[in-house]
Amino acid sequence: MRSILRLLLFFGLISGIAVPGFCQQASDSAMYAFVNHLISQMTLDEKIGQLNLLTSDMAVTGPTMRKEYLDDIQAGRCGGIFNAFGPAYVRKLQEIAVDSTRLHIPLLFGFDVIHGHKTIFPIPLGMACSWDTAGIEQAARIAATEAAADGLNWVFSPMVDLARDPRWGRVAEGAGEDPYLGSLIARAYVKGYQGNNLADSNTVMACVKHYALYGAVEAGREYNIVDMSRRRMFEDYLPPYKAAIDAGVGSVMSAFNEINGVPATANHWLLTELLRQQWHFKGFVVTDYDAIPELINHGIAADTAEASKLAFQAGAEMDMQGLAYIHHLKTLVEEGQISEDAIDQAVRDILIAKYKLGLFQNPYNRIDEGRAQREIMSPDKLAFARQMARESIVLLKNEHQLLPLKKSGTIAVIGPLANDQRDMIGCWSGAGDWHKAVSILQGIREAVGNQAKILYALGANITDDTSMLRQLNAFGGDIHPSPLSPQQLIREAVATARKADVVVMCLGESAGMSGEAASRADIHIPENQRELLKAVYATGKPIVLVLSNGRPLVLKWEGEHIPAILETWFLGTEAGHAIADVLFGDSNPSGKLTMSFPYAVGQIPVYYNHKNTGRPGNPNVKWTSKYMDIPNDPLYPFGYGLSYTHFTYGPLQLDKPVLMPGDKLHIRVTLTNDGDRDGTEIAQLYIRDRVADVTQPVKVLKGFQRVFLKKGESKTIEFTLTADDLRIYDQHMQYRYEPGVFDVYVGGNSRDVQQASFVLK
Ligand code: BGC
Repeated sequence: MRSILRLLLFFGLISGIAVPGFCQQASDSAMYAFVNHLISQMTLDEKIGQLNLLTSDMAVTGPTMRKEYLDDIQAGRCGGIFNAFGPAYVRKLQEIAVDSTRLHIPLLFGFDVIHGHKTIFPIPLGMACSWDTAGIEQAARIAATEAAADGLNWVFSPMVDLARDPRWGRVAEGAGEDPYLGSLIARAYVKGYQGNNLADSNTVMACVKHYALYGAVEAGREYNIVDMSRRRMFEDYLPPYKAAIDAGVGSVMSAFNEINGVPATANHWLLTELLRQQWHFKGFVVTDYDAIPELINHGIAADTAEASKLAFQAGAEMDMQGLAYIHHLKTLVEEGQISEDAIDQAVRDILIAKYKLGLFQNPYNRIDEGRAQREIMSPDKLAFARQMARESIVLLKNEHQLLPLKKSGTIAVIGPLANDQRDMIGCWSGAGDWHKAVSILQGIREAVGNQAKILYALGANITDDTSMLRQLNAFGGDIHPSPLSPQQLIREAVATARKADVVVMCLGESAGMSGEAASRADIHIPENQRELLKAVYATGKPIVLVLSNGRPLVLKWEGEHIPAILETWFLGTEAGHAIADVLFGDSNPSGKLTMSFPYAVGQIPVYYNHKNTGRPGNPNVKWTSKYMDIPNDPLYPFGYGLSYTHFTYGPLQLDKPVLMPGDKLHIRVTLTNDGDRDGTEIAQLYIRDRVADVTQPVKVLKGFQRVFLKKGESKTIEFTLTADDLRIYDQHMQYRYEPGVFDVYVGGNSRDVQQASFVLK
């Protein structure tokens, strides 16, 4: 409080500009007056300090700060810190900035809150499979509340990189392959984090990343180059970033990758022309970690000074841990290579963010130990995480209705991911504590109580690939393989399976096998686990395969042999509870894939909204576009997911055969739950523009609805299309609609649909 008073006094008396009251939302002009006045008092060094974002380090005891960075904060050479959290720790750092620097400018505190802060939600790819945008917004709201209660005011999320290549480990962090759904999800995260007023003590500023096209790295290899036509950018990859900007995201993080020869971080077209001039983005741009010095490796700058110049001129305003701006910008200004006005503009954007976050009114507005105690991992938050976890599960296969299981008899739970808490929270689980996560085994035990006998066997290590293991452990994996040989483990598992009525096999990836710097060329379940699965399969016992993984996998053998498969991703803190809820039918699965599961790695990229070619694939005709050894279609397509009940779609009814611009087309379909359980269906609407100025995909998603139906219930659902929904980028990149025939499809996935058509006049 002492320092707040000092701050108010400072701004009130010294600057002559009143800081708006604690509760009062100041007008934009007051904000600009305040910020501009502040800038007018800053030295060039102080300005450049605001553009410097430094990391806090993570020790076993929690976050710590290097001595030289503490000195930087004290000297006003730092505008924000990331990886620092915890009210007491954040307060200490904020006090240094506010009390010791000449102008008392508070710090930003950023962190990778990707799928929850302490209450960990499913990985974003999993949560996307809920198609529950309101739920995702609420999850982001909860994450914001916890993050803010932990002293943070800025999160490096949402990650909206559209991706069609599951070899890339970071598909785990995004929403999948579709621009329409991806855009709605991007918006939901931004709204959830930022709430209604950034100054509220339970909101944080969002940072959309990684701008742009990071999801298209060549061959799915991390940090690789991106080479893409403008058309593909605008049709597919850019819309989710744009949606985040339109939703008012406060900051943008530039991507590591190059785009058509120019790294994103030095890309003027991307960071200035598109982002600011075309999209009217008003916040600030931060680079990704060390991305400015990396421009040297890219081969676009000879040294860090040149890299700083290129990045800054392109529009990168804050340097994340590159220590490039702090060392070089001053000289560049003195040499006349960068104008001080340009520096002022970057500083202005950052100070405005701080202002909007309410930090000038109260630099400690989020820091409250009592609130952290009350808010973090409170029962309501855990309950919601469990709900989102259930909704994220995708039932891939359920032959002879093996699922749901009865809570009786003997159930064997086998596999390296069964008795595993650590992996359940997945990659990028921020400040999440895996000790608090519920393992699948625990979830199952709690669900059945003493109604059924539960047996357990490890069966296999997560992988026997020593090189993979070494890499996982080098970066926090902490995996301790069993001292038993693979054969002994399998023997034990087979013996356990033989004693059971049904076997739940918990297989997949370790959390570290997806996420950043976790590309895999082979995206099967690791080989030793597949051997285990085959050995248990040979017992003839019915098997439910419960998969935990961060990406679409190749599941050809599993899909052909195993009767029931549940894709559970990494579901977060409540993983085990949610999985048990679904296994035993206390919750009916409703998730639908947002990324295709390839038939084979050689099929990648495989995505539903592809184009037709001049010779569409036909297995019976030689000269067509196809593979000789596998189908063209993925094993499990976009939008796919089963339920314990069954839904039937009636024929499509269009209210008119011809749509006039300015008018609305209503598409109605009767959906019936004709199974024997209540359930939620995600009904999807796709269209195809049959003939257009530029070739169009065979289907594009244009709408969806989550529909709950009681068993036996029918409901007519309605979708609406207007001419605006039918716009395409023409040969001149004009976004417009054209008259012609359109097909419209509605169904429970992108493959199995009802079809009709209409004409746009
Ligand atoms: C990642 C970003 C992340 C940043 C800060 C980078 O390596 O690419 O997604 O926000 O680190 O932790």
